[in-house]
Amino acid sequence: MKILLASSICPETIKKLCDKHDVICAFNANGEVLRSLVGDREILVFRSGVRITADLMEKAPHLKLLVRAGSGTDNIDLEYLAKRGLSFFRIAEPGAQAVAEMSFALMLALARNLMQADHFTRRGRWVKEEMIGYSLKGKVLGIIGAGNIGSRVGQLGAAWGMKPIGCIEHPSLAAAAELRLKGIRLTNLNEVVAQADFLTVHVPFSESTRNLIDAQVLSRVKNGAFLINLARGGVVDEKALYDHLTNGARLRGAALDVHQHEGEGKISPLAELPNVILTPHIGAMTLDAQQEIGRRIQAIVDAFAGSSAIQDPERAFAAAVL
Ligand code: MLT
Repeated sequence: MKILLASSICPETIKKLCDKHDVICAFNANGEVLRSLVGDREILVFRSGVRITADLMEKAPHLKLLVRAGSGTDNIDLEYLAKRGLSFFRIAEPGAQAVAEMSFALMLALARNLMQADHFTRRGRWVKEEMIGYSLKGKVLGIIGAGNIGSRVGQLGAAWGMKPIGCIEHPSLAAAAELRLKGIRLTNLNEVVAQADFLTVHVPFSESTRNLIDAQVLSRVKNGAFLINLARGGVVDEKALYDHLTNGARLRGAALDVHQHEGEGKISPLAELPNVILTPHIGAMTLDAQQEIGRRIQAIVDAFAGSSAIQDPERAFAAAVL
């Protein structure tokens, strides 16, 4: 098969794909470069950081299959995809656990002043008294978007002795019952915002979630709360967050793994603030998650190609998308 890898994936998978297929790697390429490479491609594999527009797909008359090596679909034109009847697989599960775990890395880093503690200790300053932090146990964990990732965060939080509450876009009794089994109480956005000691954001990006966390929402957070964004940059209004944190903030700190402007050389104004942690969209970046995503990409491609390596393409196809 003729494959375009528009994003970097697990190196072992790249090697295995290259052994069997005609693969072009164009990581971090702009739209113009991708349009120039996609002409004869049949399969397109991508992650976040690249836009799979109708215009790009139109330049690929042989395109049959697209694989999203991750969860979000905000960077692909799904309407065009459906109109043209292209096959599309999203490999959401392996990264979901990694993102959920990352939300604890960020909560703990904020609550225990880890960045500042490291900064001072390296410089020979013993700032033990100043580094007093907060426990997670007993705190309200507010989950904005208690879906696939958010509900895992809640489950983990319950195991830590936190009190998880969450909201979802379309609440129902069935969803509330399902979340209750995971130790999460379903409520509305207002209550989550007002009650949470740790507010963690996991909604997909769409027109309805653009700037969901704006100045108004920030003005209603609990005094001393921490905000974590592992969803998409556009979900938190970063200008409003900057203004909030520099003008008598109610928030004690914030951690953002996703940003309005992502990529090499892009520096958020929030980088000036010591109570903010910024990471480069690494929520799903564990070796374990990426290797598993890689294995599933391979199974999907092999099954699609009808490769002899796959005994039962139907089963491989189904397993790959679980
Ligand atoms: C995802 O949507 O799965 C994440 O953003 C990971 C990624 O694609 O980099």
